[in-house]
Amino acid sequence: MEKQEIRTFGRRHGKKLSARQQSLIDNILPTLYPTTGDILEIGFGAGEHVRDLARNHPDKTIIGAEPFMNGVASLLSAITDEKTNQVLNEYKNIRIWADDVRDFLRKNDSKFSQIWVLHPDPWPKARHVKRRLLSSDFLTLLSKHLATNGEIIIGTDHWEYFDWILMQTKSANLHATIANLDIIQTRYQHKNKAGTDSPKYLIIKN
Ligand SMILES: C[S@@+](CC[C@H](N)C(=O)[O-])C[C@H]1O[C@@H](n2cnc3c(N)ncnc32)[C@H](O)[C@@H]1O
Repeated sequence: MEKQEIRTFGRRHGKKLSARQQSLIDNILPTLYPTTGDILEIGFGAGEHVRDLARNHPDKTIIGAEPFMNGVASLLSAITDEKTNQVLNEYKNIRIWADDVRDFLRKNDSKFSQIWVLHPDPWPKARHVKRRLLSSDFLTLLSKHLATNGEIIIGTDHWEYFDWILMQTKSANLHATIANLDIIQTRYQHKNKAGTDSPKYLIIKN
């Protein structure tokens, strides 16, 4: 991450990892280093939706980016066999970038058919708004990584952040459509910290 760049995530390490989780980070994570991919999910949390994408698109490479190592460990635990620690067949198309996605995007020239961002941290306090990931600059960076007809799909239950993102798409000169999507519940959708009725979704294209 460049020095002047705003940090968009909280801590990178939470509670101590189990021995199995640490072993997966040490031995399996390096084998899943991303090169090129077809679908990207940013800030995958515990990885429920990354796994869903992998099962639904067996012929595509799914890249998940997440700097919170306990989240990375949760995904690794869920995609590997408990006895052998080998990646299960249905998840062999997953690759993991265990860091800030902006660093990945700047050095990788993949063009994605879909880029997912589900329940990005809303940073609701006025003094924290600058830490929001989905600024117009970031959306512009994402748009450069879209394949022809590719889509950025954003979901949040924080409706004020949703409206703010919509404004950012306008500043970035991108086309945004409000959509109704029926997708699996992620941990943060389940938490519904904003206390709204449902998430809202935005589909953004070049
Ligand atoms: C509120 S959580 C949502 C997690 C998950 N998508 C869900 O719906 O349960 C937001 C996640 O975005 C991640 N995040 C924030 N900034 C990021 C960045 N620059 N690159 C990649 N992930 C980021 C955080 O670490 C955090 O896990």
